[in-house]
Amino acid sequence: MRTAYRCWAEVDLEAIRENLAWIRHQVGPGVQVLTVVKADAYGHGLRHIAARLMQSGTDIFGVANLVEARAIRAVGAGWPILMLGACLPEEVVDAVRDEVMPVISTAAEAREFANAARRQRRIVRAHLKVDTGMGRLGVDPGEAFELAQSLRQLPGLELAGLCTHFAAAEDDPDFTREQITRFREVVDALAAAGIRVPWIHASGSAALLNEESARFNLVRPGLLVYGIVPPGQRAVDRHLSSRVRPVLAWKCRVSLVKTVPAGVSLSYGRTFVAPRALRVATLTVGYGDGYPRAASNVASVLIGGRRCPVVGRVTMDQMLVDVSHVDPVNPGDEVVLVGRQGKQEITTPELAGWSGSIPWEILTGISHRVPRIYLGSEAA
Ligand SMILES: Cc1ncc(COP(=O)(O)O)c(C=O)c1O
Repeated sequence: MRTAYRCWAEVDLEAIRENLAWIRHQVGPGVQVLTVVKADAYGHGLRHIAARLMQSGTDIFGVANLVEARAIRAVGAGWPILMLGACLPEEVVDAVRDEVMPVISTAAEAREFANAARRQRRIVRAHLKVDTGMGRLGVDPGEAFELAQSLRQLPGLELAGLCTHFAAAEDDPDFTREQITRFREVVDALAAAGIRVPWIHASGSAALLNEESARFNLVRPGLLVYGIVPPGQRAVDRHLSSRVRPVLAWKCRVSLVKTVPAGVSLSYGRTFVAPRALRVATLTVGYGDGYPRAASNVASVLIGGRRCPVVGRVTMDQMLVDVSHVDPVNPGDEVVLVGRQGKQEITTPELAGWSGSIPWEILTGISHRVPRIYLGSEAA
């Protein structure tokens, strides 16, 4: 595709639909799916992604803040929205008014919400979080039963969910199972007391793949919705999860090609010296677009279907690659930073690995300067 763009991301909305369908198929009919769309839908563009997820039958949305929740409401009404982080005190009134479900860890938060709900003559549907080992949000498992009971006494507040979050679901099955056990004890205690909680949830993408027993009746995938398997998956899951496909491809262009003689240093800091005469292409991407500077001298890109190594430091708007082995390369040629070209593919986890990062950070780091081009959308 030849466009006037210097650096852009192509977002395949059909892949979103397929990935959600695959997730649904995996978890079966008894488990609902909350799709995590925080941070501008992991950098893919919240509006378009939310619209396609609505069409594709997501049950619930997960967001990080009220601005994201409002953006979803502007796309379509009626979907439950869970704010995954804790609400700030001054956000409580708006959260209640916007019917955003909060995650609650303390009796004080619960009281704030109940008071706001009563004043607005509304019911707030709260999810009680149990801290089984993440240490970020949630009540201690030993106090969870009591807190759940006291929440139920608060007029204006409904106990709509019980949840926890895994600290190392990608690569520490023993610790994850300890977390599941701690959570299940709370779930069982509530059930034994006849307390019915509509949504019980724990699993993001990695646990969804690895821990069938942790799906409860709702899963919360993010990365997998965008077609990326969390790093560190066990082989069997890697096979299974090859059924999702990446939604985003990241591209730029060649702006200049030149030959440099042996011994010449390239880019800031002179961290690369040409070992022989090289043909070097200048590209229209830099860290100002979100390309990780830590990938300097390590990453590769695709040009003409071949891998071309990044040489020298990534700069704000440009970077250099060695194209000595690719012929021809011309200004204007398309460069794939993440995605497929010919038989080659560079994945987001691969770019993350080159730069000491994680796929979540790479995706959410693609800057606003990079237009998102939607494929499979009438609004493209
Ligand atoms: C509480 C919570 N649940 C689910 C997710 C989704 O995680 P993943 O992208 O690994 O599926 C996140 C993401 O950060 C999260 O914070």
